Amino acid sequence: MTIRVAVIGAGVMGADHARIISSEIPGAELHCVCDADQTKARGAADATGARNVSQDPLATIEDKEVDAVLIASPDDTHAELTLASLRARKPVLCEKPLSQDVAECLRVLQAENTLGKRLIQVGYMRRFDPPYVEMKDRSTRDGIGAPIMMHNFHRNVSAPPNFTGQMAITNSAPHEFDIATR
Ligand SMILES: NC(=O)c1ccc[n+]([C@@H]2O[C@H](COP(=O)([O-])OP(=O)(O)OC[C@H]3O[C@@H](n4cnc5c(N)ncnc54)[C@H](O)[C@@H]3O)[C@@H](O)[C@H]2O)c1
Repeated sequence: MTIRVAVIGAGVMGADHARIISSEIPGAELHCVCDADQTKARGAADATGARNVSQDPLATIEDKEVDAVLIASPDDTHAELTLASLRARKPVLCEKPLSQDVAECLRVLQAENTLGKRLIQVGYMRRFDPPYVEMKDRSTRDGIGAPIMMHNFHRNVSAPPNFTGQMAITNSAPHEFDIATR
């Protein structure tokens, strides 16, 4: 069985997801790369051998030849595109955050609950990262007990030019919230 995947957003993350899907995931086929910028879509498709490119994310999600969707476009597009994937009843890996707005996150979760099927995964990879898994194991298995305080650092080489102070909470801190609630 081959799962035909569409990657939406072919920037830093999307291009890497496209590379991984096309070269490292058995049973997955990179069916389409979609980006609002056609040059980026074409560049990622050429680099990965994807057959199709698109500039229209909603049409890409509805495409009958697409089985699953990976959303790596900017944060403010995630909820709308995830809802469209649910309407099409397609599994979706949405890069974090699901939305920049709590009420909108809840609307997306409500839509998934109404379908009665788990179709959404959000790109929280730290929960699979061995040092984090070890930290969790030590606090439970080794009897250290529940942490009472967290002190987080997040270091990047540089912040993207469009990164605002508010995004420290809506874009970056969700990784911390995710591991704290695992
Ligand atoms: N899981 C993680 O650790 C992690 C790390 C970095 C970024 N991210 C998330 O991944 C997403 C993408 O980040 P990035 O650094 O790759 O950004 P980026 O700016 O490099 O890429 C975004 C791409 O989306 C395209 N785009 C914009 N609007 C679009 C639309 N409506 N439809 C289709 N394409 C559209 C842009 O042309 C661009 O090529 C962000 O939501 C970010 O929060 C997650």
